[in-house]
Amino acid sequence: MQKLAELYRGKAKTVYTTEDPNYLVLEFRNDTSAMDGQRIQAFDRKGMINNKFNHFIMNRLEAAGIPTQMERLLSDNEALVKRLEMIPIECVIRNRTAGSLVKRLGITENQVLNHPLFELFLKNDQLHDPIVSEAYCKAFGWASEAHLAQMKKLSYQVNDVLSKLFDDAGLILVDFKLEFGLFENKITLGDEFSPDGCRLWDKKTLEKMDKDRFRGNLGGVIEAYEQVAKRIGVPLAPFSDNVSANKKI
Ligand code: TMP
Repeated sequence: MQKLAELYRGKAKTVYTTEDPNYLVLEFRNDTSAMDGQRIQAFDRKGMINNKFNHFIMNRLEAAGIPTQMERLLSDNEALVKRLEMIPIECVIRNRTAGSLVKRLGITENQVLNHPLFELFLKNDQLHDPIVSEAYCKAFGWASEAHLAQMKKLSYQVNDVLSKLFDDAGLILVDFKLEFGLFENKITLGDEFSPDGCRLWDKKTLEKMDKDRFRGNLGGVIEAYEQVAKRIGVPLAPFSDNVSANKKI
């Protein structure tokens, strides 16, 4: 499947159309952004690691019955995905306190929540992705009640699958962000799941192994991403098309 035209350039990925209107190519760049894109830095190998990380996680989620947009890897930095009609909302699940929750409530980090939280944020960099409610989504038509219910259900399912996967690898899945869209009228997981969009702490040392290393200038960003990928078994060897040749659409 060939890339045709650039459709959208995000902060870390570029999206291309293909000859098939139902499919897109996601290109994972080395760029890493913080502060809603005000701070950007490129890290060697990051695009490759996140592309393979995302492909691995999406395959695991598909195997658990969660519909995702993933089709297959195309190269070290590219994946073929279904074209979704994106819902402009970010779904966040939190198992422990961290990040914006800590700032918003003035509480300490690393409190285990009695029940995982499900939060909604409007995708809008200029407004710094404000937190919104299900009522806002319905009132402004960002997502219907039925779609929200499905997004919530799938987010909790993702949490169950991935909390276990990371726990088995000695990591705590603190929180993460998901984006959904519609494919043939069905709520489908889109965007990416990588250390850019979640918090992962080492179970023993509580060392941060995710984008907080970049946000907090802690150094060792790529080393942490690579270590997480290796711990959960993401194959990082150079891409070979042989594996996916029989899956071509
Ligand atoms: P937060 O603590 O900044 O609200 O983020 C919660 C989790 O969601 C954290 O793992 C980072 C992720 N996230 C993104 O990747 N992008 C976003 O735009 C937002 C709001 C959260």
